[in-house]
Amino acid sequence: MVPVLLILVGALATLQADLLNHKKFLLLPPVNFTIKATGLAQVLLHWDPNPDQEQRHVDLEYHVKINAPQEDEYDTRKTESKCVTPLHEGFAASVRTILKSSHTTLASSWVSAELKAPPGSPGTSVTNLTCTTHTVVSSHTHLRPYQVSLRCTWLVGKDAPEDTQYFLYYRFGVLTEKCQEYSRDALNRNTACWFPRTFINSKGFEQLAVHINGSSKRAAIKPFDQLFSPLAIDQVNPPRNVTVEIESNSLYIQWEKPLSAFPDHCFNYELKIYNTKNGHIQKEKLIANKFISKIDDVSTYSIQVRAAVSSPCRMPGRWGEWSQPIYVGVIYGPGCFHRFRPQRVTSKISLWLLNMRNLRMKPKLKLYIVWKRLDLKSWEIPRFDGILPF
Ligand SMILES: *[C@@H]1O[C@H](CO)[C@@H](O)[C@H](O)[C@H]1NC(C)=O
Ligand SMILES: *[C@@H]1O[C@H](CO)[C@@H](O)[C@H](O)[C@H]1NC(C)=O
Ligand SMILES: *[C@@H]1O[C@H](CO)[C@@H](O)[C@H](O)[C@H]1NC(C)=O
Ligand SMILES: *[C@@H]1O[C@H](CO)[C@@H](O)[C@H](O)[C@H]1NC(C)=O
Repeated sequence: MVPVLLILVGALATLQADLLNHKKFLLLPPVNFTIKATGLAQVLLHWDPNPDQEQRHVDLEYHVKINAPQEDEYDTRKTESKCVTPLHEGFAASVRTILKSSHTTLASSWVSAELKAPPGSPGTSVTNLTCTTHTVVSSHTHLRPYQVSLRCTWLVGKDAPEDTQYFLYYRFGVLTEKCQEYSRDALNRNTACWFPRTFINSKGFEQLAVHINGSSKRAAIKPFDQLFSPLAIDQVNPPRNVTVEIESNSLYIQWEKPLSAFPDHCFNYELKIYNTKNGHIQKEKLIANKFISKIDDVSTYSIQVRAAVSSPCRMPGRWGEWSQPIYVGVIYGPGCFHRFRPQRVTSKISLWLLNMRNLRMKPKLKLYIVWKRLDLKSWEIPRFDGILPF
């Protein structure tokens, strides 16, 4: 007898709740739904609550559905919502009023709106757009010590007329800038853009919007939008002040952190020691900014370091650029002085060799001294006929 009663009571409770929900709380769709482009690759959706909607002290919400360019949906209590997305294919969305209760959701009918795709002939928009950022020293050192440069490259649309000209804009947050420095192809069409300094903050999580439109007398040029994560396109600068010293059979290699807004402890390094004689490459992953390596007597080594920002400071990113190679060791091979003021180097080196013959020193140390004295940059290392005579 007791179990039957319980079931009855349960059924009654459910029935009551359903009655309350349906009796008859009519949900009306929002009104005045509009989609407005408020910036590059950015729209604002706005609607008003239906003025005829009965309130009955319930919390109404809205269910927003993005239909194009990419499907997405979410609920909100607000009557407007911002979307960041490419707009060259247009934008379409729907919204309806909803009432959530513990076991069911009531919904009104939908209202929809759209933003038409901008005009343009097929095949005229740019393709293969890539962008990278670098940290640079700020021009206003008193405000911010570092800023970010931006470089983007693209290919001309395959059906774009010869007289097409492209224009690039970027938006970061509320700030938009137009490109002033372009590189051009043989037909004088812009195919790359360079901003020496931007408003981009590569520590930030906000997306970078890039917009390229164009003009031509012969066709409407279709614009193109792309979003980038500043984190993903940030190219870490090479480590600075790489120095290599030789002592007996060891290389002492040191460097300093790259030009970056991140402090010292944020970097991981990769060191590459290339033996130019036997082709062997030694690679080391390091946290410290120095390394000691054993070397042999008869080889020349090229040394390079690169850096990456590591996880305590930011989501781990890609490796940055390699530093310029530094060559150390015995120099041999055919003479080829043509790249670097040959006469002066030769005479200076001869002079030094003469002087050094009189010194009692380990051979490698002498060589290092010669280089240091000449203050050669890595790409200026001269090559000699035969082994150096010390
Ligand atoms: C809808 O828009 C019209 C015109 O802008 C305005 O007069 C009206 O008040 C709006 N409706 C609501 C419910 O806000
Ligand atoms: C451009 O992108 C397409 C598709 O992503 C790729 O197949 C093609 O190789 C790229 N072209 C160049 C020149 O990079
Ligand atoms: C390109 O886009 C910018 C920014 O939206 C706009 O100001 C400019 O008029 C557009 N130019 C062309 C040729 O469509
Ligand atoms: C690199 O060395 C130069 C000259 O010794 C020095 O002025 C500069 O501060 C060093 N750079 C860094 C990043 O420490």
